[in-house]
Amino acid sequence: TNPSLLILPGDGIGPEVMAEVRKVIDWFGTSRDLPFDVSEDLVGGSAYDAHGTPLTDETMAKAQEVDAVLLGAVGGPKYDALDFSVKPERGLLRLRKEMDLFANLRPAQCFDALADFSSLKKDVVAGLDIMIVRELTSGIYFGEPRGIIEEGNERVGINTQRYTESEIDRVARNAFELAMKRGKKLCSMEKANVMESGVLWREVVTEVAKDYPEVELSHMYADAGAMQLCRWPKQFDVIVTDNLFGDLLSDAAAMLTGSLGMLPSASLGAPMANGRPKALYEPVHGSAPDIAGQGKANPIACILSFAMALRYSFDKGDEATRLEQAVEKVLADGLRTADLLGEEGVQPVTTAEMGDAIVAALEAS
Ligand code: NAI
Ligand code: MG
Repeated sequence: TNPSLLILPGDGIGPEVMAEVRKVIDWFGTSRDLPFDVSEDLVGGSAYDAHGTPLTDETMAKAQEVDAVLLGAVGGPKYDALDFSVKPERGLLRLRKEMDLFANLRPAQCFDALADFSSLKKDVVAGLDIMIVRELTSGIYFGEPRGIIEEGNERVGINTQRYTESEIDRVARNAFELAMKRGKKLCSMEKANVMESGVLWREVVTEVAKDYPEVELSHMYADAGAMQLCRWPKQFDVIVTDNLFGDLLSDAAAMLTGSLGMLPSASLGAPMANGRPKALYEPVHGSAPDIAGQGKANPIACILSFAMALRYSFDKGDEATRLEQAVEKVLADGLRTADLLGEEGVQPVTTAEMGDAIVAALEAS
């Protein structure tokens, strides 16, 4: 049977960029004999409009069954006044929670044609291709006790950084597996110098490393890691870190490469019966209400998210590379959506023109 894919376009520019991904998916089906069983459903504000909830139980069940979920973006001003329990974001949070997606993969990849776009020097970012693996379901954002309590005559805000060995083990394994598919280099970041959870983190990661003798493992304190990430990011291949440090480091790394419209992501969970990980792929950007409906959105972040699905859910690394090279090609040819403009005299292309050009580049590959 064909691999199955649930597509949740969502709100704002979500459906616009997803329409371009559909062209790419269709191309792989007809030209590379790689057909997917695609189903499409609502999430976020559009699901609320239709069903009064940002994610129906039926859609949730579907997400648990398919090989991978591809999501556009959710949210928008129309829904800002809604009750917290039915806000569009709740749909996305429910997916992540119920699928138990504990490993968040955030690549920072710099296409040569866009190297001028970075705030860093061109030679620091040109050709950059690193991956940050952030633990997503535990750590200080979830640890107990938490809260604001009275103590003496003032209040105290409390959060607890807490990691079990098994939580560290599973995200570490995920990162080592990734490193095996990439440059076989893994850097683990924590603060073992001042945090108990960091001491345990380093111990467990070192233990897991014994199962991956081919991967070169290093450890770095997360603050030093932040410095190194800005100084010479190309020293890294895969970085694995906890929820809090990963939040900061992945946002910083994202900006090494330029526009939000270029950044894909994946969130992976435990392996299913067929050996594939539970997986949700989505662009890093939101629903961009300021440009929605105008044909201005850059579809590349969403298209590259599908490339990640090819590589990490469907074991089609070669096809993922083919797609990434098609993106590289259209950028090298000078095509730019409005968010990528900078050079003088360049006319922006529309969302659909960018999608069509990428399919044409695939066709020529
Ligand atoms: P945003 O990412 O939607 O937009 C930030 C800026 O980047 C805007 O100027 C937008 O036009 C631009 N931009 C984003 N993606 C682009 C693309 N593909 N092509 C060209 N330009 C692009 O973040 P913002 O404005 O803070 O949030 C807007 C809505 O999206 C809110 O309702 C927010 O809650 C939601 N959101 C949803 C996310 C998700 O679904 N995962 C993530 C972030 C925000
Ligand atoms: Mg963040």
